Amino acid sequence: MRNFTNVSDIGDLKAAVAEAMQVKADRFAFSELGRNRTLLMIFFNSSLRTRLSTQKAAMNLGMNTIVLDVNQGAWKLETERGVIMDGDKPEHLLEAVPVMGCYCDVIGVRSFARFENKADDYGEKILNQFIEHSGRPVFSMEAATRHPLQSFADLITIEEYKTKERPKVVMTWAPHPKSLPQAVPNSFAEWMNATDYDFVIANPEGYDLSPEFVGKARVTHNQDEALAGADFVYAKNWSAFEDPNYGKVISTDRSWTVTAEKMALTDNAYFMHCLPVRRNMIVSDDVIESPRSLVIPEAANREISAQVVLKRILESL
Ligand code: CP
Repeated sequence: MRNFTNVSDIGDLKAAVAEAMQVKADRFAFSELGRNRTLLMIFFNSSLRTRLSTQKAAMNLGMNTIVLDVNQGAWKLETERGVIMDGDKPEHLLEAVPVMGCYCDVIGVRSFARFENKADDYGEKILNQFIEHSGRPVFSMEAATRHPLQSFADLITIEEYKTKERPKVVMTWAPHPKSLPQAVPNSFAEWMNATDYDFVIANPEGYDLSPEFVGKARVTHNQDEALAGADFVYAKNWSAFEDPNYGKVISTDRSWTVTAEKMALTDNAYFMHCLPVRRNMIVSDDVIESPRSLVIPEAANREISAQVVLKRILESL
C-alpha cells in the first residue's frame, strides 16, 4: 500500500480485520519492520487519540517518529498558488512539503475542512499536495472529507462485539454548539457501505451528507425509527453539507441527544463515538458510562488500525 486516504486503499475488509486481530494478538511481532525508518506526523489541527495511537503504532513497528504541529513553532504556511506573500505566512506549502519529505520515510497528515471553499475541502487540496509533492507514502490522520484510521478502528470494534452476522448499525447525528466537519460521518458511512451490515443514517432535515458517502445507506430524518432494533448506535455531530449552509450549524435540537430513553428503543445496542465527545449534548452521562459504551475500546483500536496501515506501507517500501 502506497497511500492510505480512504476505504478502497485497504482492499478486502475481512483480510484487513484478520490482520488487525493478528497485530492485536502480538503487536510487537513486526518490530524489525520499521527499523531505521522515520514517520513524520504533521498536524494542522489538534489531536489526542490520533497523535498518541499513531505514534504508539509506529513505535511498535520499530519506527522513529517526528511530530510537527504546524501552528505551533513552525512557519505559518501559505497554501494558495499565485498569492503575493506579503502577509503573515512566510513559507509556502509547495516548498515545505518536499522539504518535509527529505527527513522521513512515511508522512501522516491531519488537515480538517476549512469551510472556506467546499470544492477545495471536497477536493482534499491539502492532503493531495502532500501526496503529489512529498515524494513519500502519505496516510490520512483525518482530512477534509474522511477519517479512515478512525473508521477502520470502528470496524474492528464492531467485528469484535457483534453477536449477529449482519448487525443493524445506526449512525445518528447529535447536537453540538460548533461547526464540525463531515469527515468522520462521511468516512464511517463509506466503511459501513463496504460491509454487508444493515446500515442506517439518521439526521435532521438539512443535514444530509454528500450522496457519494451516503451510498446505499438508508437515510431517515426520524431518529426513533432508526434506533428501533439497532445493535450499534454510532453518534456524531456534523455541520450541514448542502448549500447554501455548507459548514454551518443549522440546528442544536437537544431531542437528538442520545439518552437512556433513546437507547431503550434499540436491541440493547452498544454505544459508539470517536471522541472527543461533548457530554449531555451528544450523549448523556449514563449512556457513555454504561457497560454498553464502546468509546474506550474504539479508542484503543486506533493503535491497531494505525499499525496495520503503517505495516502495509512499510512492507511496500
Ligand atoms: N477520534 C480522534 O481522531 O480523536 P483526536 O481528534 O483526539 O485525534
